[in-house]
Amino acid sequence: MLRERFSRPLDPAALALSESTGEDRTFLYHDLWGSIAHAEMLGRTGIVPAPVARRITLGLRAIGERAHVGRFPLRPALEDVHLNVEEALTRDIGDDGARLHTGRSRNDQVATDLLLYLRDALLDLESATDDLVDALLVQGLAPSGRTTVPGWTHLQPAQRVYWAQILGSHALRLLRDADRFARTRRSIAHCPLGSAALAGSSLPLDRAWVARSLGFEAPTPSSFDAVADRDPEVETLFDLALLSTHASQLAEELVIGAMPEVGRVRLADPFVTTSSLMPHKRNPDLAELVRAEAGPALGRLVAHLAILKGLPLSYQRDLQVGKPVLFDGVTRGLAVLRALAPMVRTATFRSPPTTGAEAPGAVELVDALVRSGMPFRRAHGEVARLVQELESSGREWGGLTRGAVADRFPMLRGFALPTASSEPDRRTTDGGSSWREVGRMLSGARRDLARSRGSIRRERARLAILRRGLRVPDRWFAGPPTGPTSRPIPGTEPGGSAARSRQRRRRR
Ligand code: ARG
Repeated sequence: MLRERFSRPLDPAALALSESTGEDRTFLYHDLWGSIAHAEMLGRTGIVPAPVARRITLGLRAIGERAHVGRFPLRPALEDVHLNVEEALTRDIGDDGARLHTGRSRNDQVATDLLLYLRDALLDLESATDDLVDALLVQGLAPSGRTTVPGWTHLQPAQRVYWAQILGSHALRLLRDADRFARTRRSIAHCPLGSAALAGSSLPLDRAWVARSLGFEAPTPSSFDAVADRDPEVETLFDLALLSTHASQLAEELVIGAMPEVGRVRLADPFVTTSSLMPHKRNPDLAELVRAEAGPALGRLVAHLAILKGLPLSYQRDLQVGKPVLFDGVTRGLAVLRALAPMVRTATFRSPPTTGAEAPGAVELVDALVRSGMPFRRAHGEVARLVQELESSGREWGGLTRGAVADRFPMLRGFALPTASSEPDRRTTDGGSSWREVGRMLSGARRDLARSRGSIRRERARLAILRRGLRVPDRWFAGPPTGPTSRPIPGTEPGGSAARSRQRRRRR
């Protein structure tokens, strides 16, 4: 296809480098969606006779249906999804198919397809992030959330806090990630279609109609920028890099927490593995894999930026190389989120007994001295000396009675050291460790989560209405199931959609 001006076909090695049918399968339905809108517009404007446009859209829908049942393999010899669709259409409906590409180039087409794909992908990512947030908040509000653990700085026991504060703090980070996905999604406002190769068209295309029918606010204001812009792709990769970093940090806390020496987390059986040699092992492999995925996620952001760097306007073929980077990023990001949410939901969070390295209430004792009028630095020194004396005489902080404290610091008569479990409630500052403040944080997070889920629902409904308007079946876009673990974990159920897409891939 497209080689009439040459005397010889593309070299097979050149084709191997240039064809993108493997990754293009990812946005086949978005390509069809964009083409259906384009064809409708050609009919409405009379650029193509209306009955021809109707035959084209029918033909495109039939191709989608074939793909949906796994009977539309993309042929590498046809280079990409765009030419595969056009060739199949022309084979199916004859010469009418040859009018589909009127006023359009693959350059504005691929830019549009990517944005249509990204809107859906970002919704999936936002929703999967919300499910992880939900798992953290459910655990935070469970009775174990009310138990205390040493909060660490430098991985050394610092001050006791409620488990709920740690879990809720991870939730806050992830809510920011969900919000970043949403903001990137909302920034996708302009439709590139009709920009043609780089400079627009001499045909009377109705770009505004196409933009509206695909759910954009308006056509892109410059055809040059339209075919070259990959900002939303890069922003998504940034959002994914930061999300994966947060997931990695959470996973590391699970790995450390599950060490028997630490004993504050127990991962459920479906999220641990054993050793091929040592039968007693209970390894947190899945958490380790989540921890590692942040590496490639960061790499993808750098890789995509490096592809763009130095590219002159307008379309350059380099842009194609960014596509699999983006698709992989989305797929791996979803895999991480969908494994981590049930891992958190099914883990047990425990309160380990205090160790000698902890001194519950040491800072509160300093604060009490400050309240009695002692300068902070002196109070800090007094308590440090007490710790040192206890340590060198083999006594324990936990053995300090009210009387012993009053003997040493007469101005503190009546002061009681908190226990490990009452310590967090002493710190009542805004956002501090007291249960009241932790409760406030958790309800704020719950509200943000509900807001995010509401906006996902509304946007999905909006997109469904747009698809219906163009008679583009919603089921083409129904990906693997998402949601809380009450549903089967994607990929684990035999014959599930993940298994189906594996089969589809194998058939190809
Ligand atoms: N497969 C190409 C891509 O993904 C489509 C655009 C090709 N355009 C071109 N002028 N060769 O970017």
